[in-house]
Amino acid sequence: MSDYRYLTFALGKGRLATKTMELFEEIGITCEEMKDKNSRKLIFVNEELKLRFFLSKGPDVPTYVEYGAADIGIVGRDTILEENRNVYEVLDLGYGKCRMCVCGPASARELLQHHERIRVASKYPNIARDYFYDKKHQTVDIIKLNGSVELGPLVELSDVIVDIVETGSTLKENGLEVLEEVCPLSARMIVNPVSMQMETERIKDLVNRLRGRLSS
Ligand code: PRP
Repeated sequence: MSDYRYLTFALGKGRLATKTMELFEEIGITCEEMKDKNSRKLIFVNEELKLRFFLSKGPDVPTYVEYGAADIGIVGRDTILEENRNVYEVLDLGYGKCRMCVCGPASARELLQHHERIRVASKYPNIARDYFYDKKHQTVDIIKLNGSVELGPLVELSDVIVDIVETGSTLKENGLEVLEEVCPLSARMIVNPVSMQMETERIKDLVNRLRGRLSS
């Protein structure tokens, strides 16, 4: 093990990182210093296994992986699709399951059927553009928001939104509904293409162990 170089993981901060470390622990990969909630450290190391972990904002994970600053990243499929970076997606981790949907008031359903030029608010402008332009062949105006996207139709900023739906309660509490499903989402493992070549055995072994654990 001492001859190995460090393998570096970028994890999307929050629930995803917690879930990921729980899963890693089940296959014998631990990182004790990461469990200290008061720590302000940014990089955590397991010297014995030659592994390093750092937490970043979700949308930055594919950036770190594309540039090789991290060999491996764990992030939602929504971020992978939106960022469209040059990385390999190697494993569906199964958790963080939700859906990317077009949502709005029931009255907006009709606007989606007649290819009208409508306004679409989203935190995911690239996913929204791909869906409307490439899949539906509908010309729309896309308005980028940074959160609380459900406000869009409520304050008449937009006709519909493209956003993540998990339990559906945010929509329900605001009188909105799913109008169309864009795609299913979950947490994925991504790998830098050069790391994949240089560290094939270690990465394959990790993916196989995780896959085994997930299917047991
Ligand atoms: C996400 C998403 C929806 C909500 C969906 O927002 O953008 O608003 O969760 O979850 P639900 O279907 O279980 O209600 P998040 O909480 O990440 O915050 P944001 O609105 O600031 O993006």
